[in-house]
Amino acid sequence: MNRESSNVSKTTFTSRVFSGIQPSGGLTLGNYLGAIKRFVAMQKPEFETIYCVVDLHALTVWQNPQELAHNSRELCAGFIAAGLDPNKSILIRQSQVPEHTQLAWIFNCIARVGWMQRMTQFKDKAGKNSQNASLGLFCYPALMAADILLYHATHVPVGDDQKQHLELTRDIASKFNHDYQIDFFPIAKPVIEGDATRIMSLRDGTKKMSKSEPSDMSRINLTDDADMIAHKIRKAKTDPEPLPMEIVGLENRPEALNLVQIYAALSDQSPEFVLQDVGGKTFSEFKKMLADLAIAELVPISTEMKRLMSDIGEIDHILCSGAEKARSIASPILQETYEIVGMT
Ligand code: AMP
Ligand code: TRP
Repeated sequence: MNRESSNVSKTTFTSRVFSGIQPSGGLTLGNYLGAIKRFVAMQKPEFETIYCVVDLHALTVWQNPQELAHNSRELCAGFIAAGLDPNKSILIRQSQVPEHTQLAWIFNCIARVGWMQRMTQFKDKAGKNSQNASLGLFCYPALMAADILLYHATHVPVGDDQKQHLELTRDIASKFNHDYQIDFFPIAKPVIEGDATRIMSLRDGTKKMSKSEPSDMSRINLTDDADMIAHKIRKAKTDPEPLPMEIVGLENRPEALNLVQIYAALSDQSPEFVLQDVGGKTFSEFKKMLADLAIAELVPISTEMKRLMSDIGEIDHILCSGAEKARSIASPILQETYEIVGMT
């Protein structure tokens, strides 16, 4: 098949951005700095941006149905409250665009069992009893590749933990192109940039800040109020030394480095620049500055999220019109994929 003859190749967009977040719990500061804040930064005229509530991915581990429905809408509210504008970005819920699962099946037949077995996120999530993990959790990365390639996305902003899944997406695209002798799926570029790609737990600077960590004190949630944010930062683990003037002094102090990186990401500065300012200060002084900064940025977002959640109908309307726009891009690409594999 000649790619040039398809409608898809006539797209006028130079760059298309796709990313997703699972509605498997509330949003954390890690999601905000590592993902959503960067989604907002990419919302500019040179990119067409598509951001997705990946509820099918969340379902790979047990989800209470009422909570899944609530969390999916709350995540959409979080996107909008943080600055994603439904008039500039396409906001979707994965299960409302059936082409994602249709392409995922084709990719299940392209990807190899051995590739999936190497995925560290599967090993971490499945734990010791991997025989008992859902089949969905095992083939999760093929659905993620479908999310991205269904739109011929060129840029994928994610946190550091998604690097391996994006390499697998590239392997699936290459194998498909090779098997069918066609240059059809692009090789999407991971955008893992900045100092916030790995925000760590407030209780242990060697562990990622995560919504699934049992201790709520380990993370800042986007729904925390000002007092709670200040309390968690005050209680964050540190060490007895004052802050150094240069980043080299933080190499073996993971908790201190994490707080400096959070400050830098919140204030859009480099950690080096932050240290020029705060080097020499004690942690109690620095934590006060950090709490003020975090509250100033996060509280307006959580207030707006609450306001948006008081009108579920409006959120559903935004997701419904997002799904329509998304399907108008996805459907011809899926159709062309079907033709390539012989489903004509
Ligand atoms: P998840 O919550 O696992 O669906 O992750 C959604 C997005 O947030 C992905 O791009 C992750 O890489 C990013 N993310 C999650 N936790 C962190 C963290 N602690 N630091 C930086 N990015 C994160
Ligand atoms: N797997 C990602 C995570 O856990 C979420 C995700 C699903 C995603 N599909 C995607 C991210 C496509 C980027 C692009 O964070």
